[in-house]
Amino acid sequence: MSYGDEGRGTALVLVHGFPLSRKAWGRQAGLPGCRVITPDLAGFGQSDARSGRVTMDQFADDVHALLVGFQSGPVILAGHSMGGYIALAFARKYPALLRGLVLVGTKAGPDTPEGAAGRRATADKVKAGGVGVVTAVMAPKMLAGGTGDPALVAAVLGMMAGATPEGVIGALLGMAERPDSTPWLATLTKPVLVVTGANDVLIPAAESEKLAAALPQATLRVIPEAGHLVAWEQPAAFNEALTGWVAGLAA
Ligand code: MLT
Repeated sequence: MSYGDEGRGTALVLVHGFPLSRKAWGRQAGLPGCRVITPDLAGFGQSDARSGRVTMDQFADDVHALLVGFQSGPVILAGHSMGGYIALAFARKYPALLRGLVLVGTKAGPDTPEGAAGRRATADKVKAGGVGVVTAVMAPKMLAGGTGDPALVAAVLGMMAGATPEGVIGALLGMAERPDSTPWLATLTKPVLVVTGANDVLIPAAESEKLAAALPQATLRVIPEAGHLVAWEQPAAFNEALTGWVAGLAA
């Protein structure tokens, strides 16, 4: 597994979304007082793919193996979108390694049957036509308003550049069968920061509001003028929300 590891202080692990890479967290480098660890998930960025379908639990196992290698102790785990599905799986499987959770532009519910069928159909299209089938459609939707200017879309495509067909297909099939985490949320006793872009067209802000309402210890931040890729689009507001919340945990 390829990863970035920068800075010193509170261990903060940032898990990217689909079909991105750790480059999506490029504007979270150098957060004061934090050691920022950014894995590339299997089949994305510079990490090798796993074969076949990859469940959210398997992605969480990969993150866990990395952290065990670091002997970092409990971490703050942040997940963006699919990274949030993985963070929820990690929180369920490895609570002892978790200090707090940051859920960014994500949700707890599963795919609808139609949504899951759509993912399987997309996986078949990727098999036939390559990852461009997914990246070209998704890149503009990552940005506020869902359209984005060409330079911004090109930058987002750069974050998707390492995605392999195996990685994209494996993640699509894994997301299609992820469980409903909603009933479990009430049992999560760790502090959680929920962040969303106010103009997210992929996972609307209402999902984050629902998520925060279902969690016993959640803080919700809705960041204006940001879409799905809120941490990259509005780094000053995002980083302020994150570091302020982390400082509150340490106090
Ligand atoms: C992501 O950004 O990770 C995806 O939009 C998640 C999804 O497709 O459910």
